[in-house]
Amino acid sequence: MAEAANNLVRVAPEDAQAFVVALLEASGVSKQNSEIVARGLVQADLRGVESHGINRIPSYLARVRNGVLDPKAEPTLTQVTPVVAQVDGHNGFGFPAARTGMDAAISMARTFGIGMVSVKHSNHFGMSAWIVRQAVDAGMMSLVFTNSSPALPVWGGRSQLMGVSPIACGAPGGQNSKPFILDMAPSVAARGKIYKALRRGEKIPTDWALDGEGKPTDDPEKALHGGVMLPMGGPKGSALAIMMDVFSGVLSGSAFAGGVTGPYDMSKPGDVGHFFVAIKPDLFMSSDEFRERMDVLYQKVVGSDKMHGVERIYFPGEIEQLREEERLKDGIPYVQDEINTLNGEAERLKVSKIKILTGDAK
Ligand SMILES: NC(=O)c1ccc[n+]([C@@H]2O[C@H](COP(=O)([O-])OP(=O)(O)OC[C@H]3O[C@@H](n4cnc5c(N)ncnc54)[C@H](O)[C@@H]3O)[C@@H](O)[C@H]2O)c1
Repeated sequence: MAEAANNLVRVAPEDAQAFVVALLEASGVSKQNSEIVARGLVQADLRGVESHGINRIPSYLARVRNGVLDPKAEPTLTQVTPVVAQVDGHNGFGFPAARTGMDAAISMARTFGIGMVSVKHSNHFGMSAWIVRQAVDAGMMSLVFTNSSPALPVWGGRSQLMGVSPIACGAPGGQNSKPFILDMAPSVAARGKIYKALRRGEKIPTDWALDGEGKPTDDPEKALHGGVMLPMGGPKGSALAIMMDVFSGVLSGSAFAGGVTGPYDMSKPGDVGHFFVAIKPDLFMSSDEFRERMDVLYQKVVGSDKMHGVERIYFPGEIEQLREEERLKDGIPYVQDEINTLNGEAERLKVSKIKILTGDAK
């Protein structure tokens, strides 16, 4: 899992957190909400989901500056039934709206075994796995769904209609196993990975996207501007994207059917919808028995006979967890251009530059 050191600088997670909090507070976000947004972004960088890490901050702040995201909005919660609640994000950051929603789902699940929350008028909440982790840390199983802006054609179509909306879920592990954390976009690759390639001047594999003429492309610019992402597994990936829109968009009262505004489109609010379920794992047996059974499943999965050329089999979420353990010790790697862009925001907002742990960052 060791990473090549070429042109990378490392930042301690607590310094990345403090830097993002400072930028957000200087932009009018409350301390509490700044901490929540920063934690979600830094956790993505720790887990190696850099497409959804602190490099997203410039685009989020641009939304604030353009008046299409309200930095001061506080999510509100309405209890609908004892096990169902609705959160209105009031067009604030998606992270506090999601945090409020999953907190409520967990609390209902503690009392009633299950809690379901629909979130409307929210924004991009980054990597879904941080919300799954919130549930895992509380000892809960969870479903975490969101819709997102049009990027994928539906199966058989050629224009962007559905979002690359991740489907995520999780369950606590046992004594001798890792938690189960699935967090996957229904495209061959997440769109954030194409933005990352664009930022880093890299090419993309040709099976990720088509260009504006419907031809496979290795150019992130052509994929993002005028092109389309490809769904994974053809009609199956397309159906999963539609599923995210049914549960997160249609059900919540937020935008749906291609109506969500993308995080890089500064013309209007995102109006993103989310859907969360928390489930208490000891509903049908003791907590110990559940955890023992997770141990059995984990051992059977990672102990499977290996395919030719495979050295190790991982449980869903395990690669990211191992990377997080490594980065908690060694710091998070960023490339110089990314650091420069982040420091540009710091200069604009008159806050201190990001603190570098190792590397040559100026
Ligand atoms: N908020 C949004 O609108 C939005 C939109 C798109 C993507 N995203 C985020 O982008 C991220 C990237 O998604 P992705 O689909 O590219 O992720 P990915 O392909 O890297 O991983 C998908 C899943 O497969 C598992 N996995 C990957 N390699 C594995 C292996 N070798 N063995 C076992 N399991 C393995 C991972 O643990 C993960 O659960 C996600 O965190 C997602 O939430 C967010």
